Amino acid sequence: MNPKLINLFDYESLAKQRLPQTVLDYYASGAWDEVTLLDNRRAFERYKLCPRMLVDVSQQDLSTKILGKQLDIPILIAPMAFQCLADAEGELATVRAASAFGAGMVLSTMSTKSLEEVAIKVKSENLQHLWFQLYIHRDRSLTRDLIQRAEAAGFNALCLTVDVPVLGRRERDQQNNFTLPSGLELANLSGCKIPETVGESGVFAYVAQQFDPALTWKDIDWLRSQTNLPLVVKGILRPDDAVRAVEYGVQGVIVSNHGGRQLDGAIATIDALSDVVAAVGDHVDVLVDSGFRRGTDILKALALGAKAVLVGRPVLWGLSVAGEAGVRKVLEILQDELSIAMALSGCRTIQEIDASLIKQV
Ligand code: FNR
Ligand code: LAC
Repeated sequence: MNPKLINLFDYESLAKQRLPQTVLDYYASGAWDEVTLLDNRRAFERYKLCPRMLVDVSQQDLSTKILGKQLDIPILIAPMAFQCLADAEGELATVRAASAFGAGMVLSTMSTKSLEEVAIKVKSENLQHLWFQLYIHRDRSLTRDLIQRAEAAGFNALCLTVDVPVLGRRERDQQNNFTLPSGLELANLSGCKIPETVGESGVFAYVAQQFDPALTWKDIDWLRSQTNLPLVVKGILRPDDAVRAVEYGVQGVIVSNHGGRQLDGAIATIDALSDVVAAVGDHVDVLVDSGFRRGTDILKALALGAKAVLVGRPVLWGLSVAGEAGVRKVLEILQDELSIAMALSGCRTIQEIDASLIKQV
């Protein structure tokens, strides 16, 4: 591995040199002016760490529990569509890397390797958290089929994404008429295709045709009637929505703005986190994503009450640079940075990371 690749930004730079422009634009873009995309990063600077000294940090344990099950590091790989655009093995490479680290993996409905292939790949390995991310389609029988297949394949939670009633406008994709190149397909959705478009992103058009924009809280009841798997909702930014989610019986809430790809101007997730934790943190596991690039970012989120974080684009950069080995390296860097940041803050375990470590300025 290239010794110059020492942090996640190095992976981003190299991936940006290597990927075809249209793929890079799809992966990297935020919605409209990309204010939220940028703010997801900037917001971390507003939280200062107050480290505790003279604690024996010679022994550390980065493991934690979510949904009642062990996670070796407090990181899951966020669900991301079309990973075969970065690497021929795509989602299979990603899941193997997650497994090697005892991290979690959330597979997108819109993956380019089928959910069955991904699940088989990890059966023998150490992966406690393999979740299936669900997009509820207008066609409920198709959606029901996805849920049943995920259950049969051995996924252990469903992650319902609730922030995509329509797709956010990513203007470069619109300019590029972005679509999946021939040879790649929606591996879980035979019969569905990302359309060819003019003056529009094919993914935007797909979502407009296929996703159900009429979803409401009652559909969580519907979903619960379809499955016994634990349910996690992804895309919550308000405490009142988090409370509602708990009332509807979910086991986890992911504070997310979809990596700045949906509503531009939406609040940075690190700014939204503590109100959500205050509202529901005693009842369910609160997770967070969008903009996590450093171990200190993870430390800040844990101090604000998140149980774990999800990492998105850096995984795609690792995949683009070196396939499975690249994703492993991205996870290793985050693990190493978190371990150092914890040691420098006087924390031996994830449980010792508390709100007293943080001051917002
Ligand atoms: C995503 N995201 C996403 N989310 C989801 O629920 N289902 C999906 O299919 C996708 N697809 C997707 C594709 C690409 C290319 C990206 C970059 C993101 C959102 C993802 O799960 C996560 O919320 C953000 O990526 C987190 O932000 P960072 O870490 O990328 O800044
Ligand atoms: C995206 C969708 C697929 O962010 O979630 O591109």
